[in-house]
Amino acid sequence: RGPLVIAVDGPSGSGKSSTSRAVAQRLGLRYLDTGAMYRAVTWWMLEAGVDVHDADAVAARCAEPELVSGTDPGAPTIHVDGHDVGAAIRTGAVTGAVSPVSTVPAVRARLLDLQRAEIAAASAAGGIVVEGRDIGSVVAPDADLKVYLTADAGARAVRRAAEEGGAGEEAVAAVRASLLARDEIDSGRATAPLTMPDGAVHLDTTPYTLEEVVDRLVALVGR
Ligand code: C5P
Repeated sequence: RGPLVIAVDGPSGSGKSSTSRAVAQRLGLRYLDTGAMYRAVTWWMLEAGVDVHDADAVAARCAEPELVSGTDPGAPTIHVDGHDVGAAIRTGAVTGAVSPVSTVPAVRARLLDLQRAEIAAASAAGGIVVEGRDIGSVVAPDADLKVYLTADAGARAVRRAAEEGGAGEEAVAAVRASLLARDEIDSGRATAPLTMPDGAVHLDTTPYTLEEVVDRLVALVGR
């Protein structure tokens, strides 16, 4: 029984974060939110006044921010240059800019190194649940369990709008459009696109509660 690595991928709002954190807590593993890392780089670019649609400009500066991910599933954190940006990376400005920044190969290469270092560091703690878009395909292709979570766009929008405090029809429609726009960029990019990894278990979470999805994944791990 070596360290356990669980890769959780899927489109925006499919329930990856809540599921991954709960699975990590149940199994006593670390937790890494790679989306938060892409958001943190994006937040830094916006603060620095870099044009996020200028891939060369983003590539030229992406080594500058110092990123530190806290991997406790009970209270994951993300710091940029010593500042806690956990709340700042969830604003609409960052959400709207993160997919273009994530298409830049130099950004991906840098975060890939950091993500692999976290996975290696977590082996002393029994292992890690890593969530993102390219975990099973690129970051951890040898993961012990790969999961691909999806849900109806409507269900995803309702969940995400509720998290953001808006349950009205207009709020849900706006969130739905934003999720679908990100999915399209994330799936269509050349480097490490969102895709169902080889060997992944596909679970459509639409009809299930969080608890049911977590039980299912813990059962799949079988330890
Ligand atoms: O998971 P979350 O919605 O926070 O991810 C934000 C964005 O970060 C995604 O829409 C995607 O553009 C990017 N991302 C990525 N690869 C990952 C994780 C996130 O490109 N492994």
